[in-house]
This record gives sequence, structure tokens and C-alpha cells, in this order.
Amino acid sequence: MRLLVLGRGKTGALVAEVARERGHEVRVMGAEENPGGAALTPDALRDVDAIIDFTTPQAVIPNIIGAMQAKKPMVVGTTGWYDKLAMVRDLVRESSGSLLYAPNFSIGVNVFFEGARAAAAAVKHGYAAHIVERHHAQKKDAPSGTAARMQQIIQETSGKELEITSIREGDVVGTHVMLFDSPNDTMMFTHDAKSRRGFAEGAVVAAEWLRGKQGFFEFKDVLAGK
Ligand SMILES: NC(=O)c1ccc[n+]([C@@H]2O[C@H](COP(=O)([O-])OP(=O)(O)OC[C@H]3O[C@@H](n4cnc5c(N)ncnc54)[C@H](OP(=O)(O)O)[C@@H]3O)[C@@H](O)[C@H]2O)c1
Repeated sequence: MRLLVLGRGKTGALVAEVARERGHEVRVMGAEENPGGAALTPDALRDVDAIIDFTTPQAVIPNIIGAMQAKKPMVVGTTGWYDKLAMVRDLVRESSGSLLYAPNFSIGVNVFFEGARAAAAAVKHGYAAHIVERHHAQKKDAPSGTAARMQQIIQETSGKELEITSIREGDVVGTHVMLFDSPNDTMMFTHDAKSRRGFAEGAVVAAEWLRGKQGFFEFKDVLAGK
């Protein structure tokens, strides 16, 4: 595939590397080449099969609009824009486009989400629960998209909105902890990313999966092999 990766940062650079390893032709654009999404015109994207976005919460919406106007499939790894999720879903539908997003493209975290769904039963039985997430000091959004998704899953199952504590320090790739506490015991579930490679591989696999599909998707659709 001919892939356009938006973002030359920590994750975008690795996505480009993984995509090349998987035999794709890759072009990468950073902020300077694409101010406000200006580079994403139908003409400029004519030879692009799919776009993968790992940019910033500010940059991602103009990028999505450009991709949908050009009718190009898009994988969005960027987080911090989910307050606009409904608007983006409508845009994808109206433009008969194709978009897949995930707060976290690692297989482990997506399995962890299912663990969160199961563990929410403890909240219904009176356990006090709390989410803690820890990321590198440069991370722009808080709480992390992954922690927000865990909170949403537990709320759907238990009816309670858990508090999230966000810690920003050093070069931590990403750690998420769910804590459940009762007078009798404590449960702790931890996911700790060792590197960004799991995110990059998941995003490239998602772009491959998206080929020929139309609609609004999440990473769990890829894992379910829909
Ligand atoms: N879903 C997942 O699995 C996952 C995993 C890791 C990270 N993330 C998310 O992905 C995003 C990026 O993370 P990161 O750690 O890679 O951040 P980062 O190192 O800060 O990189 C962000 C990059 O976006 C570029 N950028 C800004 N505006 C742009 C535009 N209009 N067009 C193209 N590029 C633009 C920046 O370019 P300049 O350097 O030129 O400013 C920078 O290179 C964050 O939202 C993060 O939360 C998601």
C-alpha cells in the first residue's frame, strides 16, 4: 500500500519504520509540511491508499476533514479529541468515508479492556475503584485516551464513574493500573507498555485491514476479524 503517515514524532516515526518493514511505500509529513491540514487536498492525496495520523489533539481534526473530503481511508492513533467523536462519526458517514480510531493500538491493552469489563463486577459489589495512568512528561493530553476508555467501559458495566489519576514523568511509554479495594482484599490490574512498537504495529495492521472497507471502526473490529 502507499501510506501517508502524519506526524514525525515518537510514534509516527516508528509507524513509518514498521510500515516499510511490512513492505509498504511510505511518505511522512510533519507539522511544517502540513500546517492546519493544508497539505491534505484531494489532488495531493491522489496516489495515497491510506493515511495514518499520530499528531496532536489540535492537528487531528483538520487532518480528518481533509482525508474525508479526499475520500481516503484513515487510521487515527492521536488521542485527546474524543469530545468531537460524534461530529467525526457523522462526517465519516456523510462522506461515505472510512476511518478507524483507537486510544491504544496494542493488542495487550485491548485484551486489558475486556479485563476492565469483567472486573467492573467488583464495583457493583461495593469495591472502591480507581484508575491510575503514568506517561512521559511531554504527553499533551490528560487523562490518557486509554484511561478514559477504561473509565467508560467500567461505567457502562457498573454505572459508576471512576476517578483517574494522571502522572506525567520521565520517559514512561505508558502504564495503566486499575485498583479495586474492599475491607477484605485489594485487586490491582496493570498494563505496562515496554515500547511504542506495539502501537505502531497495531496501527499499520489496522490500515491494512481497512482496505476496501467503508464506515467508522475501532481497533476491536480488527481484533474480532470482522
Ligand atoms: N493510539 C495509540 O496506540 C497511541 C500510541 C502512542 C501515542 N498515541 C497518541 O498519538 C499522538 C502522538 O504521540 P507522540 O508520542 O508520537 O507525540 P509527539 O512525539 O509529540 O509527535 C507528534 C507529532 O505530530 C506532528 N504534527 C503536529 N501537527 C501536525 C500536522 N498538522 N501534520 C503533520 N504532523 C503534525 C508534530 O510535528 P513537529 O515535531 O514538527 O511539531 C510531531 O512530530 C498523541 O496524541 C498520543 O497520545 C496514541
